[in-house]
Amino acid sequence: MKIGIVGAGKVGIAIASVLKAKGFAVTAIASRRQESLDTAMRYVGEGTRYTLAVRDVVERSDVVGVTVQDREIPAVAREIATHFQDLKGKVFFHTSGAHTAAELKPLDDRGANLGSLHPLQTFPDVESGIAAIPSTFIFIEGDEVAVANLEKIASHLGSEVVRIESSNKVLYHLSAVLVCNLLCALLYEGEQIMNNIGIDLDPFYPIIRTTLGNIEAKGPLASLTGPVVRGDSGTTAAHMAAMKDMPQAAGVYRELSRVALEMAKKRGALSAEQAEVLERVLGGEKREIGK
Ligand SMILES: NC(=O)c1ccc[n+]([C@@H]2O[C@H](COP(=O)([O-])OP(=O)(O)OC[C@H]3O[C@@H](n4cnc5c(N)ncnc54)[C@H](OP(=O)(O)O)[C@@H]3O)[C@@H](O)[C@H]2O)c1
Repeated sequence: MKIGIVGAGKVGIAIASVLKAKGFAVTAIASRRQESLDTAMRYVGEGTRYTLAVRDVVERSDVVGVTVQDREIPAVAREIATHFQDLKGKVFFHTSGAHTAAELKPLDDRGANLGSLHPLQTFPDVESGIAAIPSTFIFIEGDEVAVANLEKIASHLGSEVVRIESSNKVLYHLSAVLVCNLLCALLYEGEQIMNNIGIDLDPFYPIIRTTLGNIEAKGPLASLTGPVVRGDSGTTAAHMAAMKDMPQAAGVYRELSRVALEMAKKRGALSAEQAEVLERVLGGEKREIGK
């Protein structure tokens, strides 16, 4: 199987590097800027063509990964469709978590098979991506031929391959954003408050790591601790009062505490009275803070 990559960015280079190390023929990599191709060359090495012409990649490959930014995927598909009338026998995939293979639609009209392959991982840079891919779940989606090819590729890339229905991709992706990207936003919000009192996140890493370990072992519901699940409405009220001049932090705290309240109820941890007082504390503050 000859594999080509369009888009020498973090994901494209990391995937190409791992596949090449596993013995796959990575025949060509295209990008817009020479600088990006030079970076690709450093990680993927010799025996691969590095080119500014997307056409070169398509000509030399059976399977082409379109690893460009999400917004660029349709334009790349259109560009390829203008150069090739017949793409039967070729497979194209993109690596977006949010979108389905339909983003590559112009290539379907040329007879190509289409899919998507999403490594459920964060790639802040190429190196950490290469290190993380082998322990990553890879979600694949697309037509039957594309999925069969992507399964072979993904099984050499990550730790597990999961096939996902196209219609579920948006829910899958928003879940990933909720538990990964927005976790960063949550920690940032907490860090802002800490900085006001002259401390940083460092002392919190052990408790964060223990919490993540508990979640992995027992799930989020069983791992929840803190004032809400203890029915400690006095502490929750004190927290809300301390945030009277921090509307954004208060909003985040209130909404997540409401989720925690639902969890506490599900665990049977609260009396009806405790739940009612907490509801009042969390609901009442909403009007106060929203004014
Ligand atoms: N980063 C993550 O954490 C992550 C995780 C999973 C999946 N993904 C998905 O993977 C895809 C790529 O993300 P990324 O983070 O690797 O993006 P990125 O680092 O910005 O890389 C995208 C590359 O695509 C190239 N490109 C854009 N338009 C092009 C065109 N018309 N022709 C040729 N090359 C073109 C750019 O090349 P030049 O530099 O040459 O302009 C850029 O280097 C996205 O769909 C993203 O959603 C990302």
